[in-house]
Amino acid sequence: MRKIVIAGNWKMYKTRAESLEFLQGFMSCLTETPEEREVVLCVPFTSLELVSKNLHGGLVRLGAQNVHWQESGAYTGEISGPMLTEVGVRYVIIGHSERRQFFGETDETVNLRLKAAQKYGLIPILCVGETKAQRDAGETEAHIFSQLAQDLVDVDQTKLVIAYEPIWAIGTGDTCETKEANRVIGLIRSKLSNPNVPIQYGGSVKPENIDEVMAQPEIDGVLVGGASLESASFDRIVNYK
Ligand code: PGA
Repeated sequence: MRKIVIAGNWKMYKTRAESLEFLQGFMSCLTETPEEREVVLCVPFTSLELVSKNLHGGLVRLGAQNVHWQESGAYTGEISGPMLTEVGVRYVIIGHSERRQFFGETDETVNLRLKAAQKYGLIPILCVGETKAQRDAGETEAHIFSQLAQDLVDVDQTKLVIAYEPIWAIGTGDTCETKEANRVIGLIRSKLSNPNVPIQYGGSVKPENIDEVMAQPEIDGVLVGGASLESASFDRIVNYK
């Protein structure tokens, strides 16, 4: 049985006060959530410790949005695995398209970060996906296979989550057709040595489409940006039917 992982990616949103406000609304929504659903909140670094203390060891796991490959060093602006695990972080998003597009992240650095995450006991959520131009040119499959081939070198596939995030569907309200997301995720799975890696869909997931997304047989969860910022909408997503 593949694990179901529902993750919120807060990106660069929420101060500590706003994080606390979210939790006060959200934690009470989880009483009916089936235990086998892993719920992850990937919050800004400044909110990690605060969120950790307010999860009360419940159903929700703490996630970060990046990790460097060294244990420590002269890497201004970066964060290391031990710094994250010390405050209770269990998951980390790696290779998000915003990191690749705006911060020069490459398949090589993504691979280094994935291996470091695992070395320090974090479960990486590896993001892959195509641009609109690549999709229109019929290059979706080739692009994603190339990302997987480079990103997953020497990565342990028993401690991994993958998120398929078509870039044109992120933050645009333009969701990928659920059947198409299901097809691509099936293709991603065919390239893995471990067929039990949970593979999420990400890109404009919201309360209105979550039930249809999760009804797809290949889709094992979602990575949610905008709709994870409001406790009521993330509540509906986590408690999908
Ligand atoms: P979105 O973002 O849900 O706001 O489209 C998804 C993501 O970037 O992970």
